[in-house]
Amino acid sequence: MKTITTSEALRNELAPARGRALTIGFVPTMGFLHDGHLSLLRRARAENDVVVLSIFVNPMQFNDPNDLLRYPRDLERDASLAHGEGTDLVFAPEVSDIYPDGFATVVGIPAQSAILEGAIRGASHFDGVLTVVAKLLNIVQPTVAYFGQKDAQQVFLVQRMVRDLAFPLRVEVCPTVREADGLAMSSRNVRLSNDDRRVSIALSAALQSAHRAIENGERNVTILRQRAVEALKHAGIATEYFDVVSAQSFEPLVMASGTVIILVAARVGPVRLIDNVVVDVPTLDARDPAGGTNEV
Ligand code: PAF
Repeated sequence: MKTITTSEALRNELAPARGRALTIGFVPTMGFLHDGHLSLLRRARAENDVVVLSIFVNPMQFNDPNDLLRYPRDLERDASLAHGEGTDLVFAPEVSDIYPDGFATVVGIPAQSAILEGAIRGASHFDGVLTVVAKLLNIVQPTVAYFGQKDAQQVFLVQRMVRDLAFPLRVEVCPTVREADGLAMSSRNVRLSNDDRRVSIALSAALQSAHRAIENGERNVTILRQRAVEALKHAGIATEYFDVVSAQSFEPLVMASGTVIILVAARVGPVRLIDNVVVDVPTLDARDPAGGTNEV
């Protein structure tokens, strides 16, 4: 395994593989790898001839400079974990390599970037994500890029960008990896105190309760939200948002129907956590009073 720090060196390194039409699997990350990232690397390894991991803490997607400063980093540890998963190349560029002087392009999808995560972190958060992902995809030119379902809005937007701008690659979305008690793996989890770690399971529990309520016939998103916010408050957690969106369009729904994503974001102590579940909403009998419409 090699660690490469410039785009030019990475292109040169990948040229022979491209010449031989080998498949390239790409896992973009901001480092501080956890089991969720490793599951993406494992999948990339199983499905491709060459596996590239990028580690780049992207300043353009941080609206809060303190969040950027506090973002955990450990390249040595990451390289060793990546090696253990059979990664061929680690691409760990400097900020100046990705954003050279005069860099001015912004890739954005305004409507679906402004809601949920965008409403909390600022709509420019996803401009930062999409711009860096577009650049990394152009540098690596993978056959397949792997993203986690955990960042549901991010992966929706990346898929939309890849489709709209005809990037010649496939995007694979891999399931969220969870701790044994249900907490979704995140690089931020290391910042939870022992007490906060204990209560943090309320997020996945709230999603599971909403999922069960939908299976039992509840479709009204306001009711699902009220119950979840109440349960989180009971656990001492302040909800930032709890919402249900169409998996196809990422439009927030009034009544859950079709395939939906239930999303939650909350602050547990000083740490911001997000989680989601994808649910195929069962069709209700037309005479069932719990049925409803998304027309407002
Ligand atoms: O999910 C992440 O780690 C980042 O948002 C990504 C996709 C690597 C872009 O910086």
